[in-house]
Amino acid sequence: MASFKIRLITPNDAEKIVMLMKQHWGSTRVVSRGRVHCPEKLPGFVARVDHKSVGLLTCNINDKDCEIVTFDSASEGLGIGSASLEAVRKVAISTGCKRLWWITTNDNTHALRFYQKRGFRLAALYPNQLEKSRLLKPEIPLAGVDGIPLRDEIELETTL
Ligand SMILES: CC(C)(COP(=O)(O)OP(=O)(O)OC[C@H]1O[C@@H](n2cnc3c(N)ncnc32)[C@H](O)[C@@H]1OP(=O)(O)O)[C@@H](O)C(=O)NCCC(=O)NCCS
Repeated sequence: MASFKIRLITPNDAEKIVMLMKQHWGSTRVVSRGRVHCPEKLPGFVARVDHKSVGLLTCNINDKDCEIVTFDSASEGLGIGSASLEAVRKVAISTGCKRLWWITTNDNTHALRFYQKRGFRLAALYPNQLEKSRLLKPEIPLAGVDGIPLRDEIELETTL
């Protein structure tokens, strides 16, 4: 099985992050809770296998809260997601954060399973939030994973 390494994002990663975002999400921008993020400008972690970037986690630290903004693994099931989550948890704790949180959409049942199995709890539901997000990012599709209509934001959190 391929082994991977996780390291902090550096300024040299910006171009790669833009490419990865386009490939995985069809856009370089992320909207959560009515706010537009540019992941290439955020801190976080890159996972690599054989010098190839296969995972990306970006986060936004705001006072005592750390939001996971993007989280992608192109080599699922190797433990990259779990290790990236552990890495951001450690950084958040070391910078004094008390809460690690994350927004997903109603269609992403795999991610809901993944996070809940790793200590996150459902904290809030924002019905029809995607209508507002589309005003900021019109490229958000109408259907998401498995063709499920993309409508609501779900907030998950864990205390640190
Ligand atoms: C959610 C996501 C980031 C998880 O990444 P991942 O690299 O697959 O994560 P892991 O490998 O740590 O864990 C995935 C599963 O594989 C299992 N796994 C981990 N290491 C393994 C190994 N060596 N062999 C077999 N299975 C393994 C884990 O146990 C886990 O299963 P579980 O949830 O039943 O515990 C990834 O699925 C993804 O990119 N999804 C699409 C984008 C997305 O939805 N992102 C989140 C919203 S922004």
